[in-house]
Amino acid sequence: MSLGSRLPRLAPLLPAKLLAVAVPACRLSTATASTPSASASVVPPVATSVSAAASAPASDALLPPHSLPSALVKKAARGGKLVYSGARARRTAHAQWVDKVVRVDHAGELGALRIYQGQLAVLDRLPEWWAPGAHTPSRVTPLGETPVEAIRHMLDQEREHLDTFIHLMGERQARPTIIAPIWSAAGFAAGAATALAGEKMAMALTSAVEEVITEHYNDQIREVHELGLRETEAPLRKLLVQFRDDEAEHRATAIHHHALEAPFYEAFSRLVKAGCLTAIFVAERV
Ligand SMILES: [Fe+2]
Ligand SMILES: [Fe+2]
Repeated sequence: MSLGSRLPRLAPLLPAKLLAVAVPACRLSTATASTPSASASVVPPVATSVSAAASAPASDALLPPHSLPSALVKKAARGGKLVYSGARARRTAHAQWVDKVVRVDHAGELGALRIYQGQLAVLDRLPEWWAPGAHTPSRVTPLGETPVEAIRHMLDQEREHLDTFIHLMGERQARPTIIAPIWSAAGFAAGAATALAGEKMAMALTSAVEEVITEHYNDQIREVHELGLRETEAPLRKLLVQFRDDEAEHRATAIHHHALEAPFYEAFSRLVKAGCLTAIFVAERV
């Protein structure tokens, strides 16, 4: 019996790395064999990814092709992580996606909380004449609240959001991003600085940040569908939808409080959004 005809029986016993090296060699040797059946019998299915062949057990390499598009698996497993095939690919993509979502959303909620804390730290201490509009009830918003009252309400909601992700971190064994302390300090500083420039500037910051966060939650809700996790991650999806709606409401509140009338709003908004997108990019990876 040739090595080529023995290989299918031996495949489960061989290290995947060795199998990956052996199969092309057998294909080469059987190409010169006299019987076509011999070449057909020596082509066991193998993982298409080099890293999968190097790291996955041989049993995983023999699983049927997975149903997820490989681009999605690679997207979820990016950042130098391993890319597998078959059932292990689904488990890996799922776990890495949850880890990424909890980590980056925790960072985002922490940043939002710190922005509002920074704004209130200044607005609560400023003399009335410095920013009279901060304590003037809005004639536009349904509740007629002042900008300071609106910020306090948003702060309470951000605290609930953050507490939820802190709880999820323990439950899903996710870790915080290493830039969390930087993000926390930057959020507080940005909130305080814009509040010093007046309530419209503070609301301009809120409008830009909440627009990015709303879109970010929308992206994650779409990923739940793309990764086929609608049922297995139904509670997490429900949270993402609820928080997306809260963030959209925060942006509407900022616009009600004249965010768009802040000086240089467009340029300022672009700068803030670029900063937020950079923070999201980093937090998703480290
Ligand atoms: Fe939030
Ligand atoms: Fe928010």
